[in-house]
This record gives sequence, structure tokens and C-alpha cells, in this order.
Amino acid sequence: MTGGHCRSRIGVLIVAFALSVLCVVADTDNNKITKPCQDTTVKKYDGFTFGLVIAKNESFFTKGKNPVQLSPCDKRLTNLNSGQVAVFRPKVDEISLLIINSSSVNPQNFGGNAVVFAGSKFAAVSAPIFLANNTYRVTSLSLVLNFEKGRLIQILWKNDKCKSCSGSNSTIVCLKGGQCAVKSSKCKESGGTTDCSLSIQTAFSGTDKYDDVLNTWYQVDKLQQYSLYALYSNLKSTLSQFNLFF
Ligand SMILES: *[C@@H]1O[C@H](CO)[C@@H](O)[C@H](O)[C@H]1NC(C)=O
Ligand SMILES: *[C@@H]1O[C@H](CO)[C@@H](O)[C@H](O)[C@H]1NC(C)=O
Ligand SMILES: *[C@@H]1O[C@H](CO)[C@@H](O)[C@H](O)[C@H]1NC(C)=O
Ligand SMILES: *[C@@H]1O[C@H](CO)[C@@H](O)[C@H](O)[C@H]1NC(C)=O
Repeated sequence: MTGGHCRSRIGVLIVAFALSVLCVVADTDNNKITKPCQDTTVKKYDGFTFGLVIAKNESFFTKGKNPVQLSPCDKRLTNLNSGQVAVFRPKVDEISLLIINSSSVNPQNFGGNAVVFAGSKFAAVSAPIFLANNTYRVTSLSLVLNFEKGRLIQILWKNDKCKSCSGSNSTIVCLKGGQCAVKSSKCKESGGTTDCSLSIQTAFSGTDKYDDVLNTWYQVDKLQQYSLYALYSNLKSTLSQFNLFF
């Protein structure tokens, strides 16, 4: 692991629909808003709550001839009922690794695509991203939350164009979008040996409500360390995807 990352404490959240926090950090969190569909402005080290919905791609859009993407907080989206929602609360400007345990939630069973969202009047929503189908499972994603004066204005997916999985063996493929994916048949849920849990590395950019600059995305990008999952070496025996980091 490279030194720069040690500056950011890493909070690890495991979502198994009972959220448990493994690493607790000490900086004060003065953000009282704990629901993803409420508006808030934050400062560094506040907690910031956002949601992730797993559903079919078309559920993120209005029906009809000219589909428009809406935030899952928007009541006009009526197709999301069959999806799964996970709520995360990382600390602003700390790099967090958010994990959706595939033995609890297999994205394949819920439509296989996801968006990340927060806010209501000032709603921000990411583009839909592919997580899984019968053939492939994406196990690692990188997310940037971009703030302006403490208000979330943009949610972006980033990837390393498969650098982290090139050279791996045939269990791992590079999808067109630049994400590494595991063949679904190799996942534990299908009788394979790979833990296909989804890990989402989350970093921050922009400014907080006191105009302090949020730096963690800059650090991730500069170090080209798009997958922190590698830090959790107890998982490395099942996650061949990340063996380049060891
Ligand atoms: C998702 O649905 C929208 C709206 O119907 C469509 O424009 C878009 O191409 C779809 N994306 C994928 C990856 O299928
Ligand atoms: C997922 O949950 C199972 C069963 O509770 C556990 O054995 C496994 O280690 C978990 N995987 C991750 C990545 O946390
Ligand atoms: C599964 O997803 C991959 C990558 O997006 C795509 O190339 C493939 O056609 C999909 N397979 C099925 C059966 O939908
Ligand atoms: C690919 O990696 C997996 C997991 O480490 C391993 O079980 C499998 O034998 C490897 N396959 C090849 C062809 O090297």
C-alpha cells in the first residue's frame, strides 16, 4: 500500500441489511440529516448519508417515449418497488469502502443495475451502472461525490479502465465500460469459490460548507489506486481480481 492513503482513515461499512460499522473514527459529525432523500449541507468529517438502489435499468427512468432519469427520491418513479436499497453514511472527505455482501444481496436477482442518490429538492443521482447479469458480476466500483459549498451536486462513477484486473486469469474479464468483472459462474452463489461481494470505494471532491477543499478523490486519482478492497487481505484468497496489489 502506498503512503498517501494512510492519511485518510478508512471507514468500512458492511451492508447486509443490518448495517454494521467496523472502523469508528473520532471526528465530530454535526450533520443531523440521516435519510438519503433529505437535503443537507456538510463540512469535512460530517457523516453524509446516501442511498444505492439496485434495480432494472428502465426503473430509473420515466416511462414513455422520451425516458428521463429521475432520482429514486422522486415519487414519479414508481417502478423501483422491486429493487433493493442500501443506505451508507461515510465521513465527508474520508475514503470509505462500502460493501454489499453478495450472500445477502445478489444484484443479479434485483435487476442488476444501480444508481447512487441523495437529496430531494437538490437531488443528485448517478448514471445507472451495470452490476450483474447471468454472465458477469462487477465486484469493485469507485464513486466520487462532488460537493459545492457543502451541497452534493454530482455523483460520478470512475474506473481504472481495467488496469486493476489486466493480467489476472480467465475468471476475470474487462467489460466495455472499463470495469473488471468476475464470471457469474465462479461466484459462491453459483457454486464457485469467488466471493463476488460488491465493494464501492467512495471518495470526495469539491468544497464543504466552509469552502474547505475536499481532497480524497484527488488522492485516489493521483495514486491510481482505484480499489481499496486489496487492503483487506483476509479476502484475497477468494478475490483473485485484486491479486495485483499484493
Ligand atoms: C437504460 O434505459 C434508458 C432509458 O430507457 C436507455 O436510454 C439506456 O440506453 C439504458 N441503458 C442500458 C445500459 O441499457
Ligand atoms: C458475507 O457474509 C457471509 C455470511 O455472513 C460471510 O461468511 C462473508 O465473509 C461475508 N463477506 C464479506 C465480503 O463480508
Ligand atoms: C451481460 O452483461 C454483459 C456486459 O454488460 C453483456 O456484454 C452481456 O451481453 C450480458 N449478457 C446477458 C445474457 O444479458
Ligand atoms: C484463477 O484464479 C482462481 C482464484 O485464485 C483459481 O482458483 C483458478 O485456478 C485460476 N485459474 C487459472 C486458469 O489459473
